[in-house]
Amino acid sequence: MATKERILVTGGTGYIGSHTVVELQKAGYDVVIIDNLSNSEPTVVDGIEKITGIRPIFVEGDCTDLETLRRLFLKLPGIKGIINFAASKAVGESVKNPILYYRNNLVTLLNLLDCMPEFGVKGIVFSSSCTVYGEPDMNPIDETAPIKPATSPYGNTKQISEEIIRDFIRAGAPIKSILLRYFNPIGAHESALIGELPIGVPQNLVPYMTQAAAGIRGELTVFGTDYNTPDGSCIRDYIDVTDLARAHVIAMERLLSGEDHDSVEVFNLGTGRGLSVLELISAFERATGVHVPHTIGKRREGDIEQIWADPKKANEVLGWKAETPIEETMRHAWAWQQSRIKR
Ligand code: WQD
Repeated sequence: MATKERILVTGGTGYIGSHTVVELQKAGYDVVIIDNLSNSEPTVVDGIEKITGIRPIFVEGDCTDLETLRRLFLKLPGIKGIINFAASKAVGESVKNPILYYRNNLVTLLNLLDCMPEFGVKGIVFSSSCTVYGEPDMNPIDETAPIKPATSPYGNTKQISEEIIRDFIRAGAPIKSILLRYFNPIGAHESALIGELPIGVPQNLVPYMTQAAAGIRGELTVFGTDYNTPDGSCIRDYIDVTDLARAHVIAMERLLSGEDHDSVEVFNLGTGRGLSVLELISAFERATGVHVPHTIGKRREGDIEQIWADPKKANEVLGWKAETPIEETMRHAWAWQQSRIKR
């Protein structure tokens, strides 16, 4: 297959970034990664190469430094698209350290946008989040749902970033953008060569659950079963990370196609299926035959009761659908966890 355009993936050794690099390479793109390794390991590049047989160009660097980015564009000409994952993403941490989040997430985006016209980059796919919707008035939630005041600095950086992109393009910037609002990404690559690498105590449900199942962490605490849901635990739209990655490739193809689409488009990326915490635990146990030691605890501050996507627009406009069955995703998450224990 002839090599397609060169794409820059910022945060490309991260969880969703690395899975997206794999899918971009499989689609024939020439991928450059820039990552400051603040929340990932350089061995992820080896994992990507083992999966695809192609080693992406890897630049260790911080996108909050404009000169670092300009040097990269000068040294590696021909970048036509950017997928921007480089951002801090822990909700709780953002409450404790808002300046770090505003600086890292917003200055990174501003620098990238600054470089795009000068170096002929045509499109940027932005990693946004369903967190911009806050606690929805109704589910499933589509792209026309109101953007609610952010409930954390992290969520606010996603809202502000979307506005920065819109304003830059409205001011006449010769670029296009697609904003992808993720629901809850979970799982790992089927090869178990790349996956989620939480540093310290996992904040998110699935990595904590697999560590509890592996016995390397105490039992999982279910944060509340007194919500107004069928089994009392919170409901989310859990989307397989490889399905999510594939949506980014389709979005990039759409941006580079030259077809006449709106210069900014928004898509909710979810399965359209809500699952409760207890249902996810059962799905894991059913899929793997492994027990998850867990206890019922009190609610976690700031948690939304229930949110799941209406993915109709992405299904119809992008021709993309999240199709990995939850049990398969759970088996991939478990295989990845087991591969970590063996290291
Ligand atoms: C899911 C459910 C918890 C841990 C966050 C961000 C979102 C995105 C994904 C970055 C909730 C429950 C969790 C545990 C539990 N991040 N839970 N015990 O909070 O939906 O979304 O991560 O892009 O922007 O907001 O994900 O995995 O933390 O929680 O019961 O030990 O699992 O209460 O109901 P969340 P999560």
